[in-house]
Amino acid sequence: MILITGATGNNGQELVRQLAAMGQRVRALVRDPVKGANLKGPNVELVAGDFDQPASLDTALKGIEKAFLLTPVAEFFVAWQKAFIKAAQRAKVKHLVKFSGMGSGPDAGAGLLRLHHETDEFLRRSGVPFTILQPNSFHQNILSSAATIKTQNKFYLPLKNAAMATVDIRDINAVAARVFTSPGHEGKTYVITGPESLTSQQVAERLSSVLGRKVDYVDVPLAAAEDGMRQAGMPEWSIRTVGELLGYFATGAAAAVTDTVPRLLGRPAVSFEQFARDHRAVFTT
Ligand SMILES: NC(=O)c1ccc[n+]([C@@H]2O[C@H](COP(=O)([O-])OP(=O)(O)OC[C@H]3O[C@@H](n4cnc5c(N)ncnc54)[C@H](OP(=O)(O)O)[C@@H]3O)[C@@H](O)[C@H]2O)c1
Repeated sequence: MILITGATGNNGQELVRQLAAMGQRVRALVRDPVKGANLKGPNVELVAGDFDQPASLDTALKGIEKAFLLTPVAEFFVAWQKAFIKAAQRAKVKHLVKFSGMGSGPDAGAGLLRLHHETDEFLRRSGVPFTILQPNSFHQNILSSAATIKTQNKFYLPLKNAAMATVDIRDINAVAARVFTSPGHEGKTYVITGPESLTSQQVAERLSSVLGRKVDYVDVPLAAAEDGMRQAGMPEWSIRTVGELLGYFATGAAAAVTDTVPRLLGRPAVSFEQFARDHRAVFTT
C-alpha cells in the first residue's frame, strides 16, 4: 500500500490516478474527505490527515510500506515536511519518495529551493530509504494564464527572455510511479525536465500555432506580477516566495534539459506543444 500526500493537488491527483490504473493499492491522505471523494476507486482508499497534526500522520501511515511526500508552497513547508519524515521513521516506511524542486541546493538563488534542500538533506540523513524527485517548473503553470489567453490572446509573466525547460505533470508522476514500482531507485535524486528549453516568446509561438490564432507574451515587471498574486488573495509569504522564484527563473536558471524522463520511461518527455494540444479547450472560448 502506497500513501500519497498532497493527493487533492496538481501532482497528487495525477499520481493517485496513474498508480491506481497500474493496479497498485493507494491510500490518499486528504484534509477534507469530501474534497477528496472523487479520488476514491477500486484501488484507492482515503485517510484523513493534516501535516499540522503529527498523530494523524501516524494513523495514516499504519500498514504503509511506501509513501509520497509533497507539501504545498506554504509558510510551514519545512516543519510539515520534517513532521512527515519523522512519522515515516516511526512507521518504518520502506521507501519514501519526496517531491522537491530543480535547483534545490544550499546556495540556490531562491529561498524556496533552499528550503527544499533543507528537507531533502533531512530525508537523506533520516535513515528512511528514499528517492528525491526534483522537477522543473510545470507546463501546467501556464493554465493560470488561461483567462487572459482566452479573452485577450495575451499572457503576462515577469520572465524576460529566459528559457525554461518546463515539464508536464503527467511525466513527473509517471516517473514517480516508475520509482515506486520498479527496483533500483533508492538513494537516487532525479532532476526532471521537459524535452526542450523555450523562452516565453517561443511558448507564445507554440500556443499560436496550436490554437490557430496569435497569442502574445507580455513581459511585466516582477512587482506587477506580485500585485496580481496579491489581488488573487495569496498570502504575503507565498507572494514573496513565488516572486523570488520567478526572478530567479528570469535569469535563465531553469533552462537545463535532463534525460530523466526518456531514461526512466523509455519514451520522450511530453513537449509544451503536445501539452497545449491536449489542453486546447482550456485556452479557447
Ligand atoms: N509549480 C511548479 O512549477 C513547481 C515546480 C517544481 C516543484 N514544485 C513543488 O511542487 C509542490 C506543489 O505541488 P502541487 O502543485 O501539486 O501542489 P498543490 O496543487 O498546491 O497541492 C497541495 C496539496 O497539499 C495539500 N495540503 C495543503 N495543506 C495541507 C496540510 N496542512 N496537511 C495536509 N495536506 C495539505 C492540499 O490539500 P487541500 O486540497 O486540502 O488544500 C493539496 O492536496 C511544492 O512543494 C512546490 O515547491 C512546484
